[in-house]
Amino acid sequence: MSLTAYDLTGRSAFITGAAGGIGRAGAILLAAAGATVHCADRDEKGLLETRNLIAEAGGTSHIHTLDVTDPGRIKAAVAAAGNLDILAAVAGIMHTSSVLETADDDLDRVLSVNFKGVLYACQEVARSMIARGAPGSLITMASGAVDAASPGLLCYSAAKAAVVQLTKTLATELGPHSIRVNAVAPGWIRTPMTARHDAEQQQRAEATMARISPLGRVGEPEDVAHTLVYLASDASAFMTGQILRPNGGVAMPW
Ligand SMILES: NC(=O)c1ccc[n+]([C@@H]2O[C@H](COP(=O)([O-])OP(=O)(O)OC[C@H]3O[C@@H](n4cnc5c(N)ncnc54)[C@H](O)[C@@H]3O)[C@@H](O)[C@H]2O)c1
Repeated sequence: MSLTAYDLTGRSAFITGAAGGIGRAGAILLAAAGATVHCADRDEKGLLETRNLIAEAGGTSHIHTLDVTDPGRIKAAVAAAGNLDILAAVAGIMHTSSVLETADDDLDRVLSVNFKGVLYACQEVARSMIARGAPGSLITMASGAVDAASPGLLCYSAAKAAVVQLTKTLATELGPHSIRVNAVAPGWIRTPMTARHDAEQQQRAEATMARISPLGRVGEPEDVAHTLVYLASDASAFMTGQILRPNGGVAMPW
């Protein structure tokens, strides 16, 4: 046994949402672990910044500007990336509205990005792995919202619950191809998604979340990035169909 199981040297990873927040931290850490990282996002400026940060740390990356809701663009980017060993489908959006005020358009938009965007990436990367007869690791992004109901989060939590079911179903279908599929369900992480316009409001929101964590703090993108590297690597070779929860202990499901 050795820690080389965490080494991603020679592996190639495709990560969506890589222009900021958790996706950027994941891209940087996957590259630090040795992977060549294909960073995808709709935010080109953010992607260029991520590429620079990876290069400054001595890593290798390529960028793909795309919208994850466009299956044609995903297909083309995955084909351009070549032989992939790892997918981290991180891109996502937040939306809040009460159930009674939820409009059709809002539901469609959130399902489109947070569920279909993950589905398209999983489909394309898995197809390319199967065609090569290569093993691989697919990682999807759920949320602590699947563990506890919150007012206003119907669209978001329904899409994330769908991601969990996609993950488990895919794990059963892709296991025979030696492709593992796992989800990450983070708690409150300090990123642009959870940033509040007002600093005082921000502090209050974080203090509330920190109070319900046994660790007494909210998370940082790096907390989730380490989970991504673990799931990407051979260190998690016997893990599939699982939900990992870097959430500071705010929820402890069986
Ligand atoms: N921050 C948290 O507390 C938290 C908690 C649980 C789960 N998550 C999940 O983690 C993931 C990353 O969240 P984050 O906090 O880093 O958010 P973020 O807003 O900082 O980053 C999301 C990234 O996704 C990209 N993106 C959004 N829609 C896209 C689209 N249609 N096509 C391509 N790229 C798109 C954005 O440009 C951005 O770079 C999301 O799926 C989110 O739901 C976040």
